[in-house]
Amino acid sequence: MTTQPLVTNITSLNGTIQVPGDKSISHRAVMFGSIAKGKTTITGFLPGEDCLSTISCFKKMGVTINQEGDYVEIQSDGINGLKEPFEILDVGNSGTTTRLMLGILATRPFHSVIIGDESIAKRPMGRVTVPLRQMGASIDGRNNGKYTPLSIRGGNTTGIRYESPVASAQVKSAILLAGLGSKGTTTVTEPALSRDHTERMLAAFGANITREGLSVSIEGGQELKGTTIEVPGDISSAAFLLVAGAIVPNSKITLKNVGMNPTRTGIIEVLKRMGADLVVFNERTANGEPIADLTIVTSELKGIDIGGDIIPTLIDEIPIIALLATQAEGKTTIRDAEELKVKETNRIDTVVSELKKMGANIEATDDGMVVYGKEALCGAAVESYGDHRIGMMLAIAALIAKSEAVLHNPEAIAVSYPNFFQHLDQLIQHNNI
Ligand code: S3P
Repeated sequence: MTTQPLVTNITSLNGTIQVPGDKSISHRAVMFGSIAKGKTTITGFLPGEDCLSTISCFKKMGVTINQEGDYVEIQSDGINGLKEPFEILDVGNSGTTTRLMLGILATRPFHSVIIGDESIAKRPMGRVTVPLRQMGASIDGRNNGKYTPLSIRGGNTTGIRYESPVASAQVKSAILLAGLGSKGTTTVTEPALSRDHTERMLAAFGANITREGLSVSIEGGQELKGTTIEVPGDISSAAFLLVAGAIVPNSKITLKNVGMNPTRTGIIEVLKRMGADLVVFNERTANGEPIADLTIVTSELKGIDIGGDIIPTLIDEIPIIALLATQAEGKTTIRDAEELKVKETNRIDTVVSELKKMGANIEATDDGMVVYGKEALCGAAVESYGDHRIGMMLAIAALIAKSEAVLHNPEAIAVSYPNFFQHLDQLIQHNNI
């Protein structure tokens, strides 16, 4: 295990940053390009470890994929061109790769095996294997197919109407992708709207997909056509720098080309409701996805209550929102966020334990956490537990800590934001130029 000293006691952050490509959109661009007939080109791709795992899995199924930095070219014969892989498909740390790829494999008339890392092995897969079996796929795996390793023999699937018990884009997407390769119509209904990149991007690849309230339907047998995808910056990566700008004194940070899909912008609403001085400008659209530039300056913040339907729109931002709440006057409550327990780590436990080490007044609840601010933070030896978002949140917390801090297992950050520390350095150094 490696340990890295964190920069502490920063008096100002300044500058303009282009955050890396959106992780959810990058995964989908590679997967849909791999099952679309013809050529797909992707710009702004996130070359993080998770998305590289997706590329490696589809290469093992015979798809031609060339990736150089944030540029990717895919050449595919379409979904029927996917070949039975000789090797095991290793998804690394990526839940999105596991669940969306399961949806595709469920309809393929061949055998495949999925494994991932220690964290993936703990994440619930029954939420997709159960409906995919209902559609007719043969899936087995540890604990009766609830966990990886999983083995799949797909083909001969039929569309279903599925009421998902969780507002999960991964579950919704897996079933819709299976629906695309099945007979008849597939409809997924979710309890609250989760991110809708799959719906938007399937349309960009030429599919006919319809929405009615919280239900989405797709007709099987449609052929996707290769296209050009421009991936916007990841609002979930931007969130770390937005919070840094709000809590570090004398700061002004501008972030360019950030994805502003309304199913992802809960963090913007929370920052505004807490009183952050945040400006959204240059609003535009690419491939059906809204984009904007954002500027934030150091802000006086107040505690708020966060729960209900906003939760799926900020689920990945809760670790950094917890830090934000430590610097807000009064009480912040985060509720209805049980899903945090099944992310890369149990993020209720890891956020609370690590922020407590730094002096935060924070308590876990059954479905979230309660934070009392404003509390000065101190340095500590903290741990990412192999979770990229926990690692980045702690590095931002250290910026306002008065004493020395170190982070165990910082390499996890490369999963979604490979140049995170370079960007932080740029914002710190800017003051000395
Ligand atoms: C994702 C969906 C969310 C999110 C994850 C990425 C996606 O997970 O937390 O980081 O790309 O579809 P769930 O679908 O499990 O909520």
